[in-house]
Amino acid sequence: MTKVYVTRVLPGYSLKRLKDECKELVVNQAKRSPTATELLNGIKGKDGIISLLTDSITKEVIDASPQLRIIANCATGYDNIDIKYATYKGIMITNTPDVLTCSTAELTWAIILAVARRIPEADRYTRAGKFKGWAPDLLLGTELYNKTLGIIGAGKIGTEVGLKSKGFGMKIVYTDIKKNQILEQTLNAKKLSLTKLVKISDFITIHLPLNSKTYHLLSCKEFNLTKPSAFLINTSRGKVIDESALVEALRLGKIKGAGLDVYENEPKISDVLKKLDNVVLLPHIGSATQSARIKMADLAVENLLAGLKGKIPPNLVNKEVLKNKTPVAEGFSLRKKRCNS
Ligand code: DGY
Repeated sequence: MTKVYVTRVLPGYSLKRLKDECKELVVNQAKRSPTATELLNGIKGKDGIISLLTDSITKEVIDASPQLRIIANCATGYDNIDIKYATYKGIMITNTPDVLTCSTAELTWAIILAVARRIPEADRYTRAGKFKGWAPDLLLGTELYNKTLGIIGAGKIGTEVGLKSKGFGMKIVYTDIKKNQILEQTLNAKKLSLTKLVKISDFITIHLPLNSKTYHLLSCKEFNLTKPSAFLINTSRGKVIDESALVEALRLGKIKGAGLDVYENEPKISDVLKKLDNVVLLPHIGSATQSARIKMADLAVENLLAGLKGKIPPNLVNKEVLKNKTPVAEGFSLRKKRCNS
């Protein structure tokens, strides 16, 4: 029988299902992420955990439960987990891809429009009672038509963002390790190097996972190349951008504006960013629609239960871990590596 820890109350009915199937289910009831100590205590003696992107699943956390078999992250990204160590210990890691593609792509467009048409600034202006009537030069923005949208990372979300550009009549360029047939065939999109993309794009949008290759991918060098009229949008992970380089670029007018849903030291946001009018700041809400969040929770539970029942979870991230497993009648049994002996 299984013991499970869930680091936050999840939406929908997924936790009820989990409760029915587990011997012991502990859910952090606080309306915040567990502290490091709470996390260590919560995971102790558990076979599985459902974590969020706000939980740092370090070596120490992993070691807190010698019987841990699966970490089901309720997010597409899993940069919060020490994946190398978990894999070494034979622990499965799963994520929740696909179900938030549409929500995140929609939010990206909300941000593109917000920065282009200065919507939050216009809202603040109106509420402050400054609107005294139509004026020819009031809050002039940037038209999207015929502009170039540069997509950095043309995976599922990047592709969806590209496809949603159709109604706006934009030119699409992208950068990715792979050629994106969908974008090329449907939108005549061009695959470019990062350098070329940042040079010619009017709107640059980032859709990359965070890893050692993408950390600070956009830094001073790139901001020296951007058009002074360009906007940067990030709904992926904050650390993909060197935030102090971005702040400097915004202050010096090397780039016109930015729309950020994620931050380098989330949830901390630089005071300078907060003071800039040409920046739209959101609190990491890319996947924050009711339907996406319920599907993410359902998928995390599905992955967790599959792993605990000895089946291959539908969204197993570290497939290498299977090499240490021997198939059995109903799935496989786990042969854990002995790390400390
Ligand atoms: C994810 O799933 O990685 C998103 O950042 C959650 O909103």
